Amino acid sequence: MSPHPMHGPNRFKLGVFSANSDGGLTLTKVPERWTAQWKDVVAVAQMADKAGIEFFLPIARWKGFGGEMNSREWSYETFTFAAALSGVTERIALFSTVHVPMVHPVYAAKALATVDQASGGRAGLNIVCGWSPEEFGMFGLELIEDRYGQGMEWFDILKRIHADTRPFDYDGKYYKLKNVSGRPGPVQTPRPVTLNAAFSPPGRDFAAKAVDCLFTTFSTIEKGKDTITDMKTRAAAEGRDVGVYTTCHVVCRESQSEAEDYYEHYAVEMEDTVSVDHYMGAKEKNSGSHAAEDYKLHRKRFAGGAGTYPLIGTPARIADEMVAMCEAGFAGTTVSFVNYLKELPYFLEHVLPRLKAAGVRL
Ligand SMILES: Cc1cc2nc3c(=O)[nH]c(=O)nc-3n(C[C@H](O)[C@H](O)[C@H](O)COP(=O)(O)O)c2cc1C
Repeated sequence: MSPHPMHGPNRFKLGVFSANSDGGLTLTKVPERWTAQWKDVVAVAQMADKAGIEFFLPIARWKGFGGEMNSREWSYETFTFAAALSGVTERIALFSTVHVPMVHPVYAAKALATVDQASGGRAGLNIVCGWSPEEFGMFGLELIEDRYGQGMEWFDILKRIHADTRPFDYDGKYYKLKNVSGRPGPVQTPRPVTLNAAFSPPGRDFAAKAVDCLFTTFSTIEKGKDTITDMKTRAAAEGRDVGVYTTCHVVCRESQSEAEDYYEHYAVEMEDTVSVDHYMGAKEKNSGSHAAEDYKLHRKRFAGGAGTYPLIGTPARIADEMVAMCEAGFAGTTVSFVNYLKELPYFLEHVLPRLKAAGVRL
């Protein structure tokens, strides 16, 4: 069996994020926005797979953000999504993004092992502790302060199910379980590659103790460096090494002005105003996903890509920024587009060769 793509040789790894959801990461009204039709999602996953992109990462969403488009209301559940894609792809890692409070760890352990078995060891787990009160309300849940305390118990249970063939009882603060077991286990040992999506210090502490990599945001490459140093320090205190992945939205065009004009068009002129207000307000209040000043400075980034970093420009400019991200210490980034099917081919054709020439990918 070839190594899991996340353990492959490329210094700077790439993933496609949020293609399972309408709008992708955008909050825009342009007619070409992503509608996440199943056949289009499959085409994008296969294209990324053939091009040697390391991972396909869905967003975990249960409800849309209102406004005219109600973006993200249409989103595929992420375990079944990964399982279905395992049948139509060959090499790419297939992550599931899973909300700790909404998905029971006994279920998650079995679902993740199923994807790992079905995909020949290509599963990945992206743990999110969640932030949207409306989504929590759909499950009859409230947001709790100690979300990472629950996350730690949740992940402990999942790990034990994957590691242990003997039934066990679990007596935690959040879970009291009897006689727990689950077979099959995953193909990957000791368990599938695991990320935690977070930005806040408690999120980084959780990553330091528990997962392989942090999946986080940054606003400038300089600030990204600080996050990486901080994450590495926290991990070292636990005697561990934790990689840091990040996330960007991309407009890649032949000329710089063409890319910038389109960015202005879809993320400013055609922003879905009510949903941007709603999203930014709820996220600032209930999550630590971004630095506080980002909400004041970067509305365009929220409409353009949910507050992720913008890679806007020519293939050369985007490749240069990715190389700088690699040099800053990021293990890789995800990319997202207004329309993945229309825009991914140009990115693959023109940016990947430049990353190879720069020596950050083989
Ligand atoms: C890069 C990134 C991706 C995220 N993806 C999701 C997601 O798919 N679904 C979700 O509900 N929350 C997502 N979140 C938010 C987390 O669930 C979490 O609520 C948020 O980061 C707050 O935790 P923190 O304060 O530790 O950062 C993401 C956060 C980050 C930083």
